[in-house]
Amino acid sequence: MDWGMKNRLSRIIRPETGKTVMLAVDHGYFLGPTTGLEEPEKTISPLLPYADTLMLTRGVLRSCVDPGTNVPIVLRVSGGTSILGNLADEGTTVSMKDAVRLNTAGVALSIFVGSELERKTLLALADLINEGTEVGMPVLAVTAVGKDMVRDARYLGLACRIAAELGAHIVKTYYCEGFESVVRGCPVPVVIAGGKKIPERDALELSYNAITRGAAGVDMGRNIFQSDNPVAMIQAVREVVHNNMKPDKAFDLYKTLSSSSEIKGRRAAKAGK
Ligand code: 5RP
Repeated sequence: MDWGMKNRLSRIIRPETGKTVMLAVDHGYFLGPTTGLEEPEKTISPLLPYADTLMLTRGVLRSCVDPGTNVPIVLRVSGGTSILGNLADEGTTVSMKDAVRLNTAGVALSIFVGSELERKTLLALADLINEGTEVGMPVLAVTAVGKDMVRDARYLGLACRIAAELGAHIVKTYYCEGFESVVRGCPVPVVIAGGKKIPERDALELSYNAITRGAAGVDMGRNIFQSDNPVAMIQAVREVVHNNMKPDKAFDLYKTLSSSSEIKGRRAAKAGK
């Protein structure tokens, strides 16, 4: 692996802990103005100091993130479908040249293993990896799961392994029962999505379980930006991911931070008060 690729990877996964807290705010690319992300800039800016990496689309990056920020970007480069259509029918939406021009640390694309468009999405991943290799750009493969598919270790293990075999540098998947076997069968770092919003304590436990079973971090969206206190939540998630903080302690931290005046002030700012 060349220096540029290694350097970019070390900006995504922190070398000090071998872990990462990626803040996923790319949902609008197929969901539109989803709850909590109606005005991306307002959601993103107070969270930036606590995110190791920001995962988002080109449009939101350009229009809602200050180019003076230091946060490494993982750019979502697949899309072209919406929640109203066939999600698996994604294509590549951003050229590698533009990803380099935007100074991104990595690019991300979804694969739909088991769907009728499996082959198309897997070959799109392979093409992206080929292009990324030419310029030292890591590729994160997202194992998207169709509505009628089961998120179990057998399915997710299959999808993660295929992504790694094709050359993905990081794989993003879901936590599941038997998650350790998914990680064991995937020779590259695995990060988990948070999934639908659940109570804060549960989301912290999900993160803890994933980390203690081998995840390299989280690529979390709704359980942070839809939290009652997103700034407190991302800090609690950080403690779990980077310092193995236990869920109860992390939830206490979340509550303490939530009641601090600084965070109340940020919430008020977010609400435009
Ligand atoms: C969509 C994505 C999202 O970034 C991902 O689902 C993470 O967000 P959340 O924690 O809200 O599930 O990759 O395909």
